[in-house]
Amino acid sequence: MPNPFLFGKIVTGKHFCNREKEQQLIADNLLGGQSIVVISPRRIGKSSLLAVVNSKLEKKGMACGRIDFFALNSIGKILGETVRVCAQMMLNQETNLKKFLSLAADVFKRTRIAIEPTPDGNVSIKPEVGLPADIHTSLSEAISGLDRVLERKKRKGLLVLDEFQEIANVDRAGPASLEAEFRTVVQSARHLSFAFLGSQASLLSDMFTARQRPFFQAAKIVELGTIDNKSLNSYIRRRFRSAGINVRNIEEIIRVVEGHPDYTQRICSHLHDIMVASGKPAQAVHLDDSLIRQGLEAMLESCELIFIPEWQTFPLRQQQVLSLIAEKGPLRRVAAVDLAEYEMSHTSFNTALKQLLRKGALREDSNSNYCLVDPIFRRWIARRSVT
Ligand SMILES: Nc1ncnc2c1ncn2[C@@H]1O[C@H](COP(=O)(O)OP(=O)(O)OP(=O)(O)O)[C@@H](O)[C@H]1O
Ligand SMILES: [Mg+2]
Repeated sequence: MPNPFLFGKIVTGKHFCNREKEQQLIADNLLGGQSIVVISPRRIGKSSLLAVVNSKLEKKGMACGRIDFFALNSIGKILGETVRVCAQMMLNQETNLKKFLSLAADVFKRTRIAIEPTPDGNVSIKPEVGLPADIHTSLSEAISGLDRVLERKKRKGLLVLDEFQEIANVDRAGPASLEAEFRTVVQSARHLSFAFLGSQASLLSDMFTARQRPFFQAAKIVELGTIDNKSLNSYIRRRFRSAGINVRNIEEIIRVVEGHPDYTQRICSHLHDIMVASGKPAQAVHLDDSLIRQGLEAMLESCELIFIPEWQTFPLRQQQVLSLIAEKGPLRRVAAVDLAEYEMSHTSFNTALKQLLRKGALREDSNSNYCLVDPIFRRWIARRSVT
């Protein structure tokens, strides 16, 4: 029986839980031509949500495309992928190859692209962005070119720009301003709306809210949070049932994952494996402490690959504050005795605290106490200090 849970990739359809309100809000804005920025902590479901919205909008006749900026760490790669995705969207509008070739020649006057039929009957599109790259020309031929094609076809389009904060990293490394050039072409588009997605909350929100930055006030910001417990509960029940397992006390899983869809999928996936390995998946399973502990252990172990590099991005003082809050938190005020363990002054604590809030690693809860945003990262940090 296949494992009914999925993580580490974009999920849609039966694997996707709820988010009805967010789907509606985002779809309505994009349909109306309003661009949006979706900001959240890591792995909370931005890409999946936009994939679901995309297919809804496609059904309504919108032309949709997605550029994933993750690991595009040079101007050439960013421009190349932007040109490729926009050209592909044009091809989707013009399936007759001859007509598409003449359209592409008309749009891409200075950007070279190789267009070749593939053996499976499709067409491969390979941009050849020369160096030094002419950022303005490539972007305006691709994005404004696509906008004009949509106008001619009397259609609206959506371009999802996933992990968009990567362009700020590339800008920081050199004198170019991809951010400003993107802003220019994005602003002039009339038939395309844009969804910017990103995880490094402060970096992306700075791009859209800091007065001196080119994207100031260009898009509506949507902050994506966790999923409510009721929806998660019925989702988990449904997925286990699809594998012939009737889990009785799903609240135990809900208590661990705290509304986080990625951890929901991970722990349930491990629990499923454990039940199958122990020959347990009888119709009704009660999740006792031992089973939950095994699932949590398996998940923490597999998350090490994510958590170690994440942990190493924090300087020592910030790591110490994370440990302190993971072990003693949620807290508003820190005890002098706890600071003494790290030979830390109140001032150093407050400085590191502010930096961690800014990075999106910490947040204030409903009682104005500081806590870790990621519930499983918190358990991992707290556990390290014990062993
Ligand atoms: N609505 C949902 N229903 C069920 N599972 C979900 C949902 N959203 C996300 N997930 C789970 O979380 C994982 C991460 O989701 P996704 O990649 O969409 O998040 P993201 O916010 O784009 O992550 P990243 O920060 O890595 O870009 C998915 O592989 C899936 O397991
Ligand atoms: Mg994503």
